[in-house]
Amino acid sequence: MVCASPLLLLLLLSGYHSLVARAGAGHGGQSYRVLSLNPKAVCFEPNAIPSSSRGTTVPLNHRHGPCSPVPSEKKPTDEELLRRDQLRADRIQRKFSKKATGADELQQSMVTVPTKLGSSLNTLEYVISVGIGSPAVTQTMTIDTGSDVSWVQCKPCPNPPCHAQTGSLFDPTASTTYSPFSCSAAACTQLKEQGNGCNSNAQCQYIVRYGDGSSTNGTYSSDILKLSSSDNVKSFQFGCSHAESGFDDQTDGLMGLGGGAQSLVSQTEATYGKSFSYCLPPTQGSSGFLTLGATSGGSSKFVTTRMLRSSQAPTFYGALLQDIAVGGKQLGLPSSVFSGGSVVDSGTIITRLSPTAYSALSSAFKDGMKQYPPAQPRSLLDTCFDFTGHDQVSIPTVALVFSGGAVIDLDANGIMFSNCLAFAATGNDGSTGIIGNVQQRSFEVLYDVGKSVLGFRSGAC
Ligand SMILES: *[C@@H]1O[C@H](CO)[C@@H](O)[C@H](O)[C@H]1NC(C)=O
Repeated sequence: MVCASPLLLLLLLSGYHSLVARAGAGHGGQSYRVLSLNPKAVCFEPNAIPSSSRGTTVPLNHRHGPCSPVPSEKKPTDEELLRRDQLRADRIQRKFSKKATGADELQQSMVTVPTKLGSSLNTLEYVISVGIGSPAVTQTMTIDTGSDVSWVQCKPCPNPPCHAQTGSLFDPTASTTYSPFSCSAAACTQLKEQGNGCNSNAQCQYIVRYGDGSSTNGTYSSDILKLSSSDNVKSFQFGCSHAESGFDDQTDGLMGLGGGAQSLVSQTEATYGKSFSYCLPPTQGSSGFLTLGATSGGSSKFVTTRMLRSSQAPTFYGALLQDIAVGGKQLGLPSSVFSGGSVVDSGTIITRLSPTAYSALSSAFKDGMKQYPPAQPRSLLDTCFDFTGHDQVSIPTVALVFSGGAVIDLDANGIMFSNCLAFAATGNDGSTGIIGNVQQRSFEVLYDVGKSVLGFRSGAC
């Protein structure tokens, strides 16, 4: 007891703090969470617990954090991250708002987005390590639910136009199972606008252009993908990239997890039932996981809501919000403010809400934060606080309420981006929102594409 006193004192102080806040804000019964600021830059043992014994699980890490297999010397500043995040969100929003759609219509078919959308690449933050080829070469790839075509840099890949990478460059000539697709192969013709014809050896050429102007091109190929010591994808289709533009990345490539035909999820449908989940770790100092073949059935602790899809834009996974709760109290927002649906995206950082929803959230949140002085807006974030002198702060709980009543009570690390509320206003009421990756932290987010179910399991990593 005595030896634990510094920690105990801290806990008591923070408890006292939130009691004061409760009385001061005049919101009897508001619920709070304690958020630690400045977490240590060390990697803790992974404590992730995937929900299902079925499927195949690989560890997942923040690419700039201490757990990253490819730690980079140059980390982008918060302001730079937010600027890129806006590019990605703009891209998603612009395409979605092209066709104004009512909630009823949305149920059948989500609004129009282009099939070859790749959003912005440079906001992508989470990586997995897999093996490609025979013998398998370890490749660290960023995951992206906003695009479908997977690719790795392949020898020869001069820098530039390729980017410097930390891991080994995949050499197709050194793999006995590597095979480029011919131009007439079904996998090649299926690329459509992501295809780029033939090279002089009649090999299929792919090209992906992302929303921030970056791009990759090369030879569309297949090889063995090694997910774990016992799980392989025999004929994994991916782009062997020989040229890129616009990357400032140290990773070896990208794993497309969208709903389109080329994504890993679609390719492994026969084995894993077009279903996957991931847990994005609450801080950069812990690990999460990616599971192919996860399910929400049986005794699993997922809360679920209907997944929205669009036949014109199969890449994206959407959901319909119904309300937001702050400090345990629902704001009672009208359904019209959410009628544009929300894209649930692994690659967008900040959650985007329609203006009415955002301003109601912001003012309720500020009401519960009166013990902290306001601070200047930062980029797209305008609900900011001065936390000078605090190691921990106590913040009102924030919960997202989805269609059907599924309530997702966000983790303390899923509410703030640095000293600001990690939500931003976008477009007009009824325009498309985005559920960003800050809010998804510590949940196992299940995309059961086959059953059109989206699930969330709290405290999963
Ligand atoms: C492939 O990308 C490189 C670098 O951006 C570019 O110079 C080249 O024109 C691209 N090739 C094709 C066929 O688009």
